[in-house]
Amino acid sequence: MRRLRTAILISGRGTNMDALIDAARAPDFPAEIALVLSNRPDAPGLARANGLGLATAAVDHKIYAGREEFERSMQILLELYRIDFICLAGFMRLLTPWFIGAWSGRMLNIHPALLPSFRGLHTHQRALADGVKIHGCTVHFVVPQMDEGPIVAQAAVPVLDDDTPQTLGARVLEQEHMIYPLALRLVASGAVRIEGNRVLGATMRAEDVLLAPSLS
Ligand code: GAR
Repeated sequence: MRRLRTAILISGRGTNMDALIDAARAPDFPAEIALVLSNRPDAPGLARANGLGLATAAVDHKIYAGREEFERSMQILLELYRIDFICLAGFMRLLTPWFIGAWSGRMLNIHPALLPSFRGLHTHQRALADGVKIHGCTVHFVVPQMDEGPIVAQAAVPVLDDDTPQTLGARVLEQEHMIYPLALRLVASGAVRIEGNRVLGATMRAEDVLLAPSLS
């Protein structure tokens, strides 16, 4: 089995990165983590990945005049490491249509809400403010429109009466750690295909996708 050479792009903490790294340790996992790349040299996740012996690199967006220059440096590294596939995992820079076009159909993102609800930032706070009873997270292919693109996997959590953005966010994060490896497995193994705005072909049951994603 040829494993997809995957780069994880992070900006900070990197707990979704940890989940992907853990999953990719399984010998039958169809992707290997060939690079962890951060736009912040001091990202805690970058140091952790380095400690695990993974290839890591930082491209500090602050030293570039514009987004494309920054992205061209990232692209050079991605080519150097012969990367096939990208997982954005808490990568907090908007990407240009040029970069997104270069990785079309080969880049996933995780978003802490049930898209298409609550695109953008502060999703848990906004979910509470809007009084929704179900909240969650989404893994989707990246397209030029922010927080849009074909959805690979979603997980839902109930919103509890005494939730704060922190408690709700913590429950959602647990689910993020389940569905991101699951989504990467589905895509990297070729189990799913994109048709229009839909990702089709997953053989798992709808109830697993929605409420209790299982990695098995
Ligand atoms: C995650 O909750 C992820 O969904 C979110 O940032 C957090 C990163 O945490 N991403 C976005 O908001 C992207 N717009 P992590 O660094 O511990 O994985």
